[in-house]
Amino acid sequence: MTRTTEPTRISSLPGLVGQQATVSGWVTHTRSSGKVAFVTMRDGTGILQCVVVKPQVSAETWEAFQQLTLECSFSVSGEVKADARAPGGVELGVTELRLIGPSALDYPIQPKEHGVDFLLDNRHFWLRTPRQVAIMRIRNEIEQAIHDFFYERGFLRTDTPILTAAIGERSGLFATEYFDEGNAYLAQTGQLYGEALAAAFGKIYTFGPTFRAEKSKTRRHLTEFWMIEPEVAFNDTHANMDLQEDFVSFLVQRVLERQMPALKELERDVSKLEKVKAPFPRIDYTDAVATLQKKGSAVQWGEDLGAEDEALLVEDYETPIFICNYPKEAKAFYMKENPADPRTVLCDDMLAPEGYGEIIGGSQREDDYDKLLHRIKEEHLPLEAYSWYLDLRKYGTFVHSGFGLGLERTIAWICGTPHIRECIPFPRLMTRLHP
Ligand code: 4AD
Repeated sequence: MTRTTEPTRISSLPGLVGQQATVSGWVTHTRSSGKVAFVTMRDGTGILQCVVVKPQVSAETWEAFQQLTLECSFSVSGEVKADARAPGGVELGVTELRLIGPSALDYPIQPKEHGVDFLLDNRHFWLRTPRQVAIMRIRNEIEQAIHDFFYERGFLRTDTPILTAAIGERSGLFATEYFDEGNAYLAQTGQLYGEALAAAFGKIYTFGPTFRAEKSKTRRHLTEFWMIEPEVAFNDTHANMDLQEDFVSFLVQRVLERQMPALKELERDVSKLEKVKAPFPRIDYTDAVATLQKKGSAVQWGEDLGAEDEALLVEDYETPIFICNYPKEAKAFYMKENPADPRTVLCDDMLAPEGYGEIIGGSQREDDYDKLLHRIKEEHLPLEAYSWYLDLRKYGTFVHSGFGLGLERTIAWICGTPHIRECIPFPRLMTRLHP
């Protein structure tokens, strides 16, 4: 049996100038001035201008050109010609054109302004547009960079369960029936399992979907999002922040190095991203509250910081910042008590600049059995679901730390998109389960 060859993609055409090529894709635009017609094709890798000269092509090809409508699929063959004015620097002098799949005239996304709800209803088509393609290319780059960063540093990539017993962060669990075991819950975090894995492998990270049934209709909340959670044995809270700032600087530099065309498509101000280099300022929560109060915020010591407070804090900086050592009540039960001030815990939130807010939550974990047991009871968590987690403190407890980076919030910041919903192919929001 012969193997079919991979079709030629638009992105490879600049290397084929002077040669014959056949490319397949979808129509984004057509125009004709009698004998000369122009068709713009997109194939997900680029945009190609195809030139059809009526006297130089067969009647079938000219007929096929006339049947083209917005977003129908077609293929073209012809000579690849250099043309500095054309997108991608080349155009195709068409010798043959074939219609593959016609597209009805009422294609929903037309070249005009559409409302966001309409676009989200048509997300399966909206994804075909240049801005969305650019965001998804940057998402892909960031995902690959994440794996490269951890692989190069000797971390083991590992996977934690999606179906869990009552384990996780605070509120907002999605429940589903689980045979005779009662309820199972969709994972809000892989962290607790990550801690067990760190004791087995030293340095690990997870990269998985996480779920929060939070009734938050904000520009930075999804009900299903992707989180990257490293966990490192024998790292304290300071080493944990060193890792976070190296990690985030690496991701930003990687996008700048490899995705400049996508950033241009998004009209991102790259001078802002170029300033993102470690180290990032580390600000104690107590100092942050004092700064906020001076700036007119009503926040009181003991409260978590809201989006507006976060924006007030980052406005003085060009890099992300850490806010460290929050009050115990404002944070999760597993964070280690701060020996210097037991009202607080050894944790950090990383806030992105330009008002994008929290992209990372991290902490050193409570490694003292009695203190952890006390916190579990204080929070009225079901002890039986946490017995294995407590065991980690009973058999060879160890200083360890980790963090969770929200993938879509990071993409939103790097791309400069105002809302997180454009940063995942099919967003799940409180009021949106389709398409
Ligand atoms: O601060 P969070 O809740 O931390 C954890 O889940 C820890 N278990 C992580 C760890 O230490 N291993 O969430 C971490 C990050 C946030 O900073 C944010 O970027 C993202 O996850 N995030 C959300 N992203 C989109 N939609 C939501 N509803 C999110 N909730 C959290």
